[in-house]
Amino acid sequence: MRITGDGIWGPPDDRDEALRVLRRAVELDVQLIDTADSYGPDVSEELIAEALHPYPEGVIIATKGGLTRTGPGQWPRNGRPEHLREACEGSLRRLRVDQIDLYQLHSPDDDVPYEESVGALVELKDEGKIARIGVSNVNSDQLATARGLTEVVSVQNRFNLSDRSNEDVLETCTEDGLAFLPWFPLGSGTPAALASEIAEDRGVNAHQVAIAWLLARSPVMVPIPGTSSVDHLDENVAAAELELSDEELGRLADAA
Ligand SMILES: NC(=O)c1ccc[n+]([C@@H]2O[C@H](COP(=O)([O-])OP(=O)(O)OC[C@H]3O[C@@H](n4cnc5c(N)ncnc54)[C@H](OP(=O)(O)O)[C@@H]3O)[C@@H](O)[C@H]2O)c1
Repeated sequence: MRITGDGIWGPPDDRDEALRVLRRAVELDVQLIDTADSYGPDVSEELIAEALHPYPEGVIIATKGGLTRTGPGQWPRNGRPEHLREACEGSLRRLRVDQIDLYQLHSPDDDVPYEESVGALVELKDEGKIARIGVSNVNSDQLATARGLTEVVSVQNRFNLSDRSNEDVLETCTEDGLAFLPWFPLGSGTPAALASEIAEDRGVNAHQVAIAWLLARSPVMVPIPGTSSVDHLDENVAAAELELSDEELGRLADAA
């Protein structure tokens, strides 16, 4: 999402750096890249294909449909089956694939029964256009509804040190082995103050503490920190090696 312009609209300020970020991610063994048709719109998927197609074995490009764009920072929902089909076809074209590894329903749409939106993804999967289905921005009831209709392999909800309102959904994912992709994992670039304190003691940065905390939080956690910078990407990937002590995890547990 961060390899686009301001308000997640249009091309990024530094296109070459965005392409470098994508190529470096794969070099560093990043196995999942999260995008959406609505990022740009189209820009993020197009850059991913330009930088990485043909995609190396084992790299999952996870995209989403269900939000539309009317301007910078504006994200009207559209969960109608006909829109989702069109969105998926567009993503297949831009990503230059016959099948999308992981297709996530970006958000429930209050104007469309959730069953109908999920049903559209089930049809696309039956047709082979989607390998796996994920959901995003769901509560426990919506997740249960989706799982009653099809196999759901992942949930992408907001979750970070300062915002743990999706704890119940995370718990279900942990118990049942669904991947949990926390969005705003770095608090949108400003991790909680306590992360900075711990980072200073450990000689790392606060973003790395935020990622290490997420990884320690559940074995199904798949952090998707957004960045437009190779240096930040390097730091964020290195955070996978950072082990927080029980005492640090205890302090962070109380920090929400
Ligand atoms: N499903 C949904 O509804 C939804 C909603 C929002 C986001 N998402 C997904 O979640 C991903 C993550 O969310 P996000 O990108 O909005 O927020 P985030 O990962 O919490 O924070 C990203 C921000 O942190 C900065 N940053 C990253 N690493 C850094 C580092 N090591 N040091 C200093 N600053 C750093 C980035 O700036 P630089 O570019 O300068 O590094 C960027 O401004 C998105 O990219 C998107 O794929 C999904």
